[in-house]
Amino acid sequence: MKGKILVTGGAGFIGSHTAVELQNAGYEVIIIDDLSNSSEDMIDGIERITGKRPVFEKLDCNDMEGLKKLFETHKGINGIIHFAASKAVGESVQKPLLYYKNNLLSLINLLELMPQYNIPNIVFSSSCTVYGEPDKNPIDETAPVKPAESPYGNTKQINEEIIRDTVKSGAPIKSIILRYFNPIGAHPSAEIGELPNGVPQNLIPYITQTAMGIREQLSVFGDDYNTPDGSCVRDFINVVDLAKAHVVALDRMLENKSDDKVEIFNLGTGNGVSVLQLINTFEKVTGVKLNYKIVGRRAGDIEKIWAEPYKANHVLGWTAKESLDDTLASAWKWQLKLREKGIM
Ligand code: UD1
Repeated sequence: MKGKILVTGGAGFIGSHTAVELQNAGYEVIIIDDLSNSSEDMIDGIERITGKRPVFEKLDCNDMEGLKKLFETHKGINGIIHFAASKAVGESVQKPLLYYKNNLLSLINLLELMPQYNIPNIVFSSSCTVYGEPDKNPIDETAPVKPAESPYGNTKQINEEIIRDTVKSGAPIKSIILRYFNPIGAHPSAEIGELPNGVPQNLIPYITQTAMGIREQLSVFGDDYNTPDGSCVRDFINVVDLAKAHVVALDRMLENKSDDKVEIFNLGTGNGVSVLQLINTFEKVTGVKLNYKIVGRRAGDIEKIWAEPYKANHVLGWTAKESLDDTLASAWKWQLKLREKGIM
């Protein structure tokens, strides 16, 4: 056993994939999740892939007493990966207090308890949303953080600052902040994947659900951007690749490979792909024709953003490997599996 890791939000999309990679790498995994936007089925999926069931407890990170009890029961945790958060950009504009409460309090609780229970390391899930609309692409970690477009984005920025200030105050804590670009796809086994509640807000689940006939038509938000085909450009990163970066980040902290107490890494492929290119690739890979139409721009969307992953590649020692074709095929395989199981 390499170490004992607490994964908050471990029944969610990125959390479940990370739990698999942690177990594959020899870590012991404890998952907590309030299941507000996830399902315990993912724990079964993790077990089917790895042959080992992680410890799972239904627990909200805002529940301080529950967290204390957890840390009393599971002594000797070496690190935390903190995924648990509300993540719908649009909803955060409607319900800002919910987002500030959920996303800030949960991190504060963890940081407060970590020294008390001798937990020295935390990996935090951040987002490229902190860069706003970049002045240039690809964008690296030295680019300025821009005023957030939504309460959701603001919680990521504030949480990064909370971590920095806490570490600066002398707390015995080290942190790696990972800024994800657009995570997509599913585990190649199709045992785990993305399962949004209700109508998907993100592009890929909307695409796969439209291809499946669950949604009638995909709306492409805008084709009049200053990009080669007029649609927005993103850096779509395979979720298994992304999950592996968390293992590397934890190894780095546990092996004391850096003197910096807080490090930030972009996690992206370095390639910008437009929404229309993505749709074409999906059609090519799956052979399914997608019913879509171009509509007006979505408020708050960024025109184009893709990562400069040099630091992740050369300092962290992690590189995105999966092709976009395979990644989209995995997303479709997952959707087919959901249909087979009668879930969607
Ligand atoms: C957003 C957030 C990001 C967050 C992520 C997860 C911003 C700027 N970005 O990413 O921080 O981590 O959500 O929830 O806040 N699109 C369509 N039709 C659709 C859905 C999407 O055309 O039905 C387009 C969007 O306009 C966008 C692209 O697809 O250009 C990707 O959208 P989406 O998957 O929602 O991710 P982001 O907005 O990039």
